[in-house]
Amino acid sequence: MKGKFIVFEGPDRSGKSTQANLLSKYLTNKGFCVLLTREPGGDGVAEDIRKIVLRPEHKVSPMAELFLYEAARAQHTQHIIIPALEDGKIVICERYTMSSCAYQGYGRGIDMEVINTLNNAATLNLKPDLTLVFLMSDKYFTQRGEYLFSDRLEREDEVFRLKMRKGYRELAAKTKNAVIIDADRAVAQIHKTVLRELAGYGVLD
Ligand code: TMP
Repeated sequence: MKGKFIVFEGPDRSGKSTQANLLSKYLTNKGFCVLLTREPGGDGVAEDIRKIVLRPEHKVSPMAELFLYEAARAQHTQHIIIPALEDGKIVICERYTMSSCAYQGYGRGIDMEVINTLNNAATLNLKPDLTLVFLMSDKYFTQRGEYLFSDRLEREDEVFRLKMRKGYRELAAKTKNAVIIDADRAVAQIHKTVLRELAGYGVLD
């Protein structure tokens, strides 16, 4: 495909959105054609699924939860991401397949083989050119008060969040073209690191 696919991953409130927005503006200013999008969402159907899966009052079984994310992913990938990549755009996506591995795999305990099979089906085997995994230190992570967490997944307890976070570390280490970004630092510093990683991986060549 002509375009490039960059994914921003990490636990909630790790600064992904801020950095994705900064990168999108930076690349647009440089004359690149950019699509900034997110999961679950990025398309009408997928945004509706997002509302269902994140609604705090819903009790959703782990497998139903996984299928909702994968349904949103299939729609988003086939209707939005692949056409944009075929047009030669740089697609910046907040969250993708690694989120399902970290949250539904490590967090909920669903068999990783099941998740990988569904991920491959939903994405038609599309893989990111680069995945940036934003992680903050344990101290900062556990200090963040519960009152900050508003959607159904964000309200999960600390045990769930620590499992998911450990998952991100392991997944980042074993995934091709994935790199951990230290998210404890100032916004401008992190932005510089993001640009350096993009250059290092030849994403903008
Ligand atoms: P966010 O857009 O604020 O990151 O919210 C999305 C929430 O959904 C977040 O808590 C992570 C969760 N999530 C999963 O559990 N599995 C997935 O596959 C995706 C894409 C997100």
